[in-house]
Amino acid sequence: MTVGELVAITMYLGPLYQPLQRLSELNLVLANGIAALARIFDLMDQPARVKDHPNAMHIERARGAVEFRSVWFEYRPGKPVLEDINISVRPGQTIALVGQSGSGKSTITKLLLRFYDVTSGCILLDGIDIRNISLRSLRRQIGLVMQEPLLSGTIRENILYGNPAATERQLIEAARMANCLDFVLSLPNGFDTEVGERGCHLSARQRQRLTIARAFVKDPAILILDEATSSLDPESEHLVNQALRCLTAGRTTFVIAHRLATVVNADWIIVLEAGRVVEQGTHEQLLTKSRIFAKLISRQTEHTASTVVARQQQPLRSYRAVGS
Ligand SMILES: Nc1ncnc2c1ncn2[C@@H]1O[C@H](COP(=O)(O)OP(=O)(O)OP(=O)(O)O)[C@@H](O)[C@H]1O
Ligand SMILES: [Mg+2]
Repeated sequence: MTVGELVAITMYLGPLYQPLQRLSELNLVLANGIAALARIFDLMDQPARVKDHPNAMHIERARGAVEFRSVWFEYRPGKPVLEDINISVRPGQTIALVGQSGSGKSTITKLLLRFYDVTSGCILLDGIDIRNISLRSLRRQIGLVMQEPLLSGTIRENILYGNPAATERQLIEAARMANCLDFVLSLPNGFDTEVGERGCHLSARQRQRLTIARAFVKDPAILILDEATSSLDPESEHLVNQALRCLTAGRTTFVIAHRLATVVNADWIIVLEAGRVVEQGTHEQLLTKSRIFAKLISRQTEHTASTVVARQQQPLRSYRAVGS
């Protein structure tokens, strides 16, 4: 072998080794992927605990009367999270659920949606036990606006998620009612703008109003607002509240609120403590009679004041969130 050939071969070996090495790395990535996929399939194969009753009935549109009758519920056996809950709501009424963190407010709404079945007692919708209603038609009756809206895909897909059969006109009308039409139309692709994982390039109030628009196209008989306005600053809260007032009109509404303003407008307030209803009544009744409620409200007012101060101290962040 000449010196030239030796040099050439050594140089050729370099580019040969590189792809070989990558090939072995690929094997590792593939093995990781397959292991993760197996876990995902395990999860998807889990049997659903809440199932349709064989003779489950289908309801078209509920009137919206909801009754919790001696409802007990436990996530883990032996540890009741709700104890003997009795709530009766007439169609169109707004009920506020207040109480400290962990008192069971969200759990009550999860039971109504039948994410879980009650341990004992029953929940009636228009006088029918919800376990005798098909899951699909039950959930069709209920709109949910949460504190942390989950968005992915385009704005159109997100709004129509509430009702895929809605027409373009209904879509635009819903966006208008939710106070978000102007900002959607100002985006480069309008309704076809991608909002990405968790809607990261929209501000909190924009995301919030998209989920309100979603509830508008769904046009449910019952509405659940789980701390829908607590992540907003007072100014945005006003816009969102305005949209919410239109949305709640004529619907049975459960609102879980940390803010006084939302609670004041409710027809009936239920105060929960460690899974029990400790007080209930109208706002005036509770303010005059109740110590627990007054304490909760005063604590929340302090909390609101401190969050406003904290927000004012980070102008850059909020500017980015709104501007981007
Ligand atoms: N999936 C779950 N598994 C087990 N325990 C749970 C589950 N979800 C909630 N809990 C427990 O149930 C209790 C009530 O929770 P819930 O979420 O209803 O409270 P909350 O009143 O909505 O509180 P917050 O104001 O913080 O939202 C808490 O003690 C909580 O730890
Ligand atoms: Mg909650």
